[in-house]
Amino acid sequence: MNTIPKDFQITSKIHHNTYLVNGELKKWNGSTTEVSSTISSTDEYKPTVLGSIPDMGEPEALGALDAALAAYNQGQGVWPTMKVKDRIECMESFVKKMITKRDEVVKLLMWEIGKSLPDSQKEFDRTVEYIYDTIEDYKQLDRDSAKFHKSGDVYAHIRRGPLGVVLCLGPYNYPLNETFALLIPAIIMGNTTVFKPAKHGVLLITPLLEAFQSSFPKGVVNILFGRGRAVAAPIMKTGKVDVLALIGNSKSANALQEQHPKSNRLRLVLGLEAKNPAIILPDADLDLTIDEVIAGTTSFNGQRCTALKVVYVHEDIKEEFLKRFSERVDALKFGNPWEEGAKLTPLPEPSKPAYIQELIDDALAKGATIKNKKGGIHSDNYIWPAVLYPVSKDMRVYEEEQFGPVIPVLSFKDIEEPLDDMAESNYGQQVSLFGKDVYTLSPLIDTLANLVCRVNLNSSCQRGPDVYPFTGRKDSAQATLSVHDALRSFSIRTFVAFKDNELNNETIEQLLDAKVSNFLSTDYIL
Ligand code: G3H
Repeated sequence: MNTIPKDFQITSKIHHNTYLVNGELKKWNGSTTEVSSTISSTDEYKPTVLGSIPDMGEPEALGALDAALAAYNQGQGVWPTMKVKDRIECMESFVKKMITKRDEVVKLLMWEIGKSLPDSQKEFDRTVEYIYDTIEDYKQLDRDSAKFHKSGDVYAHIRRGPLGVVLCLGPYNYPLNETFALLIPAIIMGNTTVFKPAKHGVLLITPLLEAFQSSFPKGVVNILFGRGRAVAAPIMKTGKVDVLALIGNSKSANALQEQHPKSNRLRLVLGLEAKNPAIILPDADLDLTIDEVIAGTTSFNGQRCTALKVVYVHEDIKEEFLKRFSERVDALKFGNPWEEGAKLTPLPEPSKPAYIQELIDDALAKGATIKNKKGGIHSDNYIWPAVLYPVSKDMRVYEEEQFGPVIPVLSFKDIEEPLDDMAESNYGQQVSLFGKDVYTLSPLIDTLANLVCRVNLNSSCQRGPDVYPFTGRKDSAQATLSVHDALRSFSIRTFVAFKDNELNNETIEQLLDAKVSNFLSTDYIL
């Protein structure tokens, strides 16, 4: 019996028909795309239609770009020259309005991407916290720069300035959090933006359009709907974008970069794919290791860039690990996002179960077996995570970022085996290392830290807490994100310098007294 709590029922469809350009919520009368959920509202399985969104194209995309360019006005716009204090006030006004939309956004997160209720709430709250932390960090940045340096006979007043127009594209697995983790620092640093929501998780942005419109000067935030190819590509082709901020995969990032006619002008802030390994040493505490590997491989059905996507277990403990781990995978609860205790939830991409099945078939044909009883069982919108062992390097599940519920396991005798694999891999985001002996761990940590950008000791991989650096090597990322680092990634150091002489010293004193420059100022916000 499909019982959906009253608060989460879809009582009316959302046919969203506005987009935000140049401070105006413009009405869209063109073609639309249906938004549907793989979650059924009826006992007999049927996807649920949630509503529709505009399917925009080049003219609207270029209109949004023009609005962002006009608001930036080659660095002379109201927003890029505004006092830090005033920009912060706009951001505070936005976040207050955003908080009032929590229930609507959380409900849509569940329906659109199948994220569990606690995780959807966490995504919303974490984003709000991210915005407040960003505001605090920006105040600190401002305090730190409200002074003059002197080297030799040259004084300098150094700040961080905006870069220009940012095109911002987020992923479907964190359609709110990851997108805002790009958008918010880009905006607060004085850039102007064009933002297009991800393929899934689009309707959940619509309750926030008005908050964006009423909190920022016109043209600072422009929001479009449509397919990346139709909307993002024409914007890139103009060569007028200064920063491409994208969390997604390297194929789309590369395709978009290539459209830009002057690649030297384009800055990149990219969070891309990964294949984070778990390495389990023979002395690992298996209780704790299994807890962490379960969380790492199965949270949000493995649809996280930070998910553990391949597991290396030492020969000596592989039997016990596989047995206990497989039992735990089968004991997880599958259910709709609002169901108490549901850890596995419907997959938002209708084609995902078939893709995962292809990976399983390929692995089985090449010698792997499924170690858990429920592994690979299909239901209407799901495929149960299969624990595959032994996985070899010629299998697709070893090579491809599965981004879904399937768990490849390899065993090793010599630690050099996983280390060599990691060195050869295209990815370099994080690793989870499980073990106790410090003399074994120490050299491993030293090596692993140079292969990836976060070594998680006896802990699963994750992005958070968001104050820590989030980045990767090779095909996994470009630039670093964290509350603090994102402010740096979306800005550039720019300064006023002057030689120490009477004329300059007097002029600077007058400039400071007059308080008419927003850049040259020693005032700061407490
Ligand atoms: O998809 C990648 C996300 O950054 C993962 O974030 O580790 O907090 O789930 P998380």
